[in-house]
Amino acid sequence: MRSGAPAQQSGPEEVACAIELDGARRVYELPDLGHLLALHDVHLSVAPGQFVSIIGPSGCGKSTLLRLVAGLEAPDGGVISLGGRTPTQAAEAKLLGFVPQVPALLPWLSVLRNVTLPTRLNRRAARRGADRAETEELLRKAGLGDVMHQLPSQLSGGMRQRTAIVRALALRPEVLLLDEPFSALDEFTREALQELLLDLWGELEATVLFVTHSISEAVRLSDKVVVMAPKPGRIVEVVDIDLPRPRTQELLTSAEFHAYELKVRDLLRGAFEHGREPA
Ligand SMILES: Nc1ncnc2c1ncn2[C@@H]1O[C@H](COP(=O)(O)OP(=O)(O)O)[C@@H](O)[C@H]1O
Ligand SMILES: [Mg+2]
Repeated sequence: MRSGAPAQQSGPEEVACAIELDGARRVYELPDLGHLLALHDVHLSVAPGQFVSIIGPSGCGKSTLLRLVAGLEAPDGGVISLGGRTPTQAAEAKLLGFVPQVPALLPWLSVLRNVTLPTRLNRRAARRGADRAETEELLRKAGLGDVMHQLPSQLSGGMRQRTAIVRALALRPEVLLLDEPFSALDEFTREALQELLLDLWGELEATVLFVTHSISEAVRLSDKVVVMAPKPGRIVEVVDIDLPRPRTQELLTSAEFHAYELKVRDLLRGAFEHGREPA
C-alpha cells in the first residue's frame, strides 16, 4: 500500500487530480428568513492522491462543500478547480465518483448490474471505468463475490453500502467524494469498510474527500482532517495527520494517534460551541 504522498506523475490519464477551493461561497435564499451563508470564504488545497476527511457539526456545510466539488451545485463566489477543470467539466469527463450517505441502488437490478450501470449508460465512463472482469474482482475484494447476482433488498445495510462504494470505484475516478458513507453501520462493519476503502484507494490512486462524524475514523484514514464550524459554514482549521501508513493496530493505540484525536476533538468542541443557539 502506498503512503499518503501525492501520486507520481506518470501520464495524464493515470494521475489523480488536485482539488482547489479558492474563496468558495454558497448562499441559500430561504423564504421569509433571508440568506443562509452555507459556505463562507472556503480555501482548501488537496494534493493529488491525498485522503482528506471533513468533520464538523450538523449544518456546517459539509454536504454543500461536497456538492460544489461534485458540480451538482455552483458556488455563489470563488473558484473550484479539479486538476485545472471546473467541477462541471470534471463530472462530464467522468472523473468523479460520489458515494452518498444513503446508497441509491436500483432495487430491480442485481448488485453487479447496479455497479456496471454507469459504464453501460455512458461511453466516457465505459472508456475510463473497470471492465467486466475488473468489476467482478472489485466486488470480490469488497466481499460481494457471492451476492453479485442478488438484488439490493436481499443484502444487509453494510453490503448495500459496499455496493455503492464499488460502483463509484468501478468508474476509476480521479476524485472520490464520500458523504458520511459509514454513519448508519455498526462498529465492526464500519472498520471492515474503512480497511476496504483504504485498500482500494491505494490501488486506484484517487484523491478522496470523505465526510464523517467520527473523530477516530477521520484521524485513522486521513492525510488531512478539515474541521468546519457553522454560522457561517467555514473551515476553522486543517490538521495534517503526519502518521505512517499502513496504520497498524499498534499505531492506532499509540499516544501519537491519541494526541491527534484530542487536537481534532478540541477544535470540534469550539465549532459546536460556536454553533449553539444563545440560551
Ligand atoms: N438546498 C438547500 N436549501 C436551503 N438550505 C440548505 C440547502 N442545503 C443545505 N442548506 C442549509 O445549509 C446549511 C449547510 O447544510 P449542509 O451542507 O447539509 O450541512 P452538513 O452536511 O454539514 O450537515 C444548513 O443550514 C442547511 O440547512
Ligand atoms: Mg451533510
